[in-house]
Amino acid sequence: MTHIVTENCSSCRFTDCVSVCPVNCFHGDADRLYIDPDLCIDCGACIPKCPVGAIVEDIDILGSPLIELNAEQAALLPVIKAKQSPLPGADARRDTLISEGLV
Ligand code: F3S
Repeated sequence: MTHIVTENCSSCRFTDCVSVCPVNCFHGDADRLYIDPDLCIDCGACIPKCPVGAIVEDIDILGSPLIELNAEQAALLPVIKAKQSPLPGADARRDTLISEGLV
């Protein structure tokens, strides 16, 4: 079992999640993060940290291409260990996601 980063992370990249991950399983590009399923220990510490609800358990999205996408991208991208500044417009995107009921 592992946790998965969803599309809600795109254009936000708040990175509060990485500050609580005990195994440094987050990898990222300029737009969003992904979780390495081979490292994630399923502790769930990151879930309440994300302001846009972008982290879910894989058992809740079985069959979703997001599961394979996280594994593939995590293998290709660098580890993100420290909190960084959110992307420009992240707060506005968060507000939109909330107003659309997607958080
Ligand atoms: Fe993305 Fe949420 Fe982490 S927006 S970078 S999953 S805190």
